Amino acid sequence: MCGIFGIVNDGTSQAAQTVLDGLKKLEYRGYDSWGIAIIPKSGGRIRIEKHVGKIGSAKTTLPDSTIAIGHTRWATHGGVTDINAHPHLDCSGQIAVIHNGIVENYQDLKEELKREKHTFHSETDTEVIAHAIEEELKTGRSINHAVFSVFNTLVGSNAIGVLDLHAGSIVICRNGSPLAIGIGSNSYYLGSDVTAFLKFTRRVYFLADGEAAVLTVNGVKLYDISSQAEKKLVTHTVDWKVEDVQKGGYPHFLLKEIIEQTATIKKTARLNETELKQIAKKIADGGRVVLCGCGTAFYCALAAKYYFSLAGIEAQAYGAYEFLPFAKFADKKTLFIAISQSGETADTLIAAKAAKKNGAHLIAVVNARASTLERLSDTIIAVGAGPEIAVVSTKAFTAQLATLYLLSRAVGGKYKEAQKAMTNLGAVLEKWLTPKNRTAILNLAKKLIDYEDMYLIGKHLNFPAAMEFALKIKETSYIHAEAFASGELKHGVITLIQKGTPCFALFANDETRQEVLSSATELKARGATIIGISPFAAPEFNYHIQTPELGDLTIFGNIIVGQLLGYYLGIGRGTDPDKPRNLAKSVTVK
Ligand code: M6R
Repeated sequence: MCGIFGIVNDGTSQAAQTVLDGLKKLEYRGYDSWGIAIIPKSGGRIRIEKHVGKIGSAKTTLPDSTIAIGHTRWATHGGVTDINAHPHLDCSGQIAVIHNGIVENYQDLKEELKREKHTFHSETDTEVIAHAIEEELKTGRSINHAVFSVFNTLVGSNAIGVLDLHAGSIVICRNGSPLAIGIGSNSYYLGSDVTAFLKFTRRVYFLADGEAAVLTVNGVKLYDISSQAEKKLVTHTVDWKVEDVQKGGYPHFLLKEIIEQTATIKKTARLNETELKQIAKKIADGGRVVLCGCGTAFYCALAAKYYFSLAGIEAQAYGAYEFLPFAKFADKKTLFIAISQSGETADTLIAAKAAKKNGAHLIAVVNARASTLERLSDTIIAVGAGPEIAVVSTKAFTAQLATLYLLSRAVGGKYKEAQKAMTNLGAVLEKWLTPKNRTAILNLAKKLIDYEDMYLIGKHLNFPAAMEFALKIKETSYIHAEAFASGELKHGVITLIQKGTPCFALFANDETRQEVLSSATELKARGATIIGISPFAAPEFNYHIQTPELGDLTIFGNIIVGQLLGYYLGIGRGTDPDKPRNLAKSVTVK
C-alpha cells in the first residue's frame, strides 16, 4: 500500500528532487508520510529527510546527489510519525531501506537482532530488514547476497529497495508487492509502478516474484533471489503516455477520470474480442461463473451478476474478503472472474489463488498491467482505461462493467450487438455530460453539503448501482451514504428516515420503475427529501437529475451522477478528492 521510487545516475545531480517528483506520482499508494535517502555527491554518510503528511508542494533540502531512494507510506506497523516514515537505516548508517508490504515474522526477527545488540528507533516492521542486512554483512557477504539472503527470510508479501553507501548501488527484491525498473539513457529507475518514471523512460521491466535487481551507474542486473544467479533482463516498451498521468488542465485527477469515461467505455468495447468469445464459449459449454472483487470491483461484480442473469446465465458474486468459506465449491467447471483495477488487492489475490488451487479457470478483468493477478491468471482481460490515478475508482469501474456486459452478451452470440451498444453508450454519455448537466449536479451538491447522512434505494441493476453511488459519496466527501434494495426498506431501515433526510432513488425505465416510485413515496411520506436519478421526471421527486435513457445500460449514467456528486460534495467540504483520508489506491494487505 506504499509507493517506492529510486534513481541511480541522476543526470541533474538533483536525485532527491527527482525522487520527490516521482513520489508525488506514487502518492495515491499511501500518503501518511514520505521520506528520501541519498548518498551526497560530496561524499559522507547517507542523508535522510522524512515528514509526516502528504507531499503536496513539499521541497527537499537534501544536498546534490546522483543516487536516491524514496517512499510514500500508508501506515501498517507503527503510527504516523516522522520516525516511522521510511527510509530506515541500520545501526552503522551504511544502508537505507524502503519497503512496501508487511514482514509477518518481524517480531521474531526483531527479538533476534536485539539479542545481537541492534538498536531500533521505529515501531515498523521495515526497520528489521535494515538491521538484518547489517548482521548478514558481518559474515563477509557482498551487499547483493546479504540482501537476497535476508529477503528469503521475510514472511509475507514484500518489495524492498536497499541503498548501500559503500557500493553506491540500490538492490531491489520482489515477492508479492509490485516493482518495476525503468531503463533511461544512462539513468536507471525503480518504482512501485511505472507512473513514477514515465516522464524519463517507457522502457521497463516488471519484476516477477522471487526476482531481484541491482541498479548501479553501470546499468541494471537481474537476479533470481533463491539461486542468486543472474538472469537475462528483457525490457519492453509501455504504451502509456506522459499526458495519461497528468491532470491535463483539470483541477483533480478524479474529475479528469470521470470525464474520460465517455472515451474509455468506447475504447474498452474494441478490446479483448478473442478472449471474451473464448470465455463465452466456456460459459456456453457449462462453465460456472463466479465474480469476485473488493470495494468498487465488488459492486462491479454484483452489477455484472444481473447482466449475466439478463443473458440467461446464473452467476455468483462475492466480496473477495468473504470468498474463502466458499472456495471449496470451486472446481474445473468454475470460471473465476477476478475484477481488480490494480491487480494487486491482497484479498482478491487470496480468493483467486484459492479458486485456482481447486481447479478453477482464473480470468483477470484488470486495468493496470503486469500485476500479480495478471501473472496468476489463465486469461487476461485488460480493460484499457489507462492509468487511474485518483484513489477513488471511476473509469476502471465503468470499463470493467462494460467488459463484463460484453461477455454476458457474447454467451448468447450477441457480442457485435453489445459492442455497438457500448459504443453508443460512450457517445450518449459524451453528449449528456455537458457543462449544463454538470452544473445541475454541482447545484444539487450545494443543497446537500451540510447533511451527514444520506440514503439510496434501487432495485435490480440499480441496487448495485446505488451501492457504488453511495461509495463514491462516502469516499470523496466523508458523508455517510447507505444504499438499500428498495424492497428492504419496510423490513427495518425506514426507521432511519426523518424530516428532510436526503434519499436518492435510482431508476431505469423498466418493470422496476413503479415499485421504486412506491418506495420513494413511502420515504417521502416520512419526511424524506427525494432526489430522483433517472431518465424520467416524477411528481415524487423534490430534486431530479436526468440521466440518459439507455435500457439496461442506464445504470452507467446513474453511477456517473454519484461520481460527480461525490466529487462536488468533497470539494465543497474541503476534502482532497484525489487522496481521501485513510485510503490507498491498492490495498495490498489483508
Ligand atoms: O485495485 P482494486 O480494483 O482491486 O481495488 C479494490 C478496491 O480497493 C477499490 O475499488 C476501492 O474500493 C476504491 N477506493 C473504490 O473507489
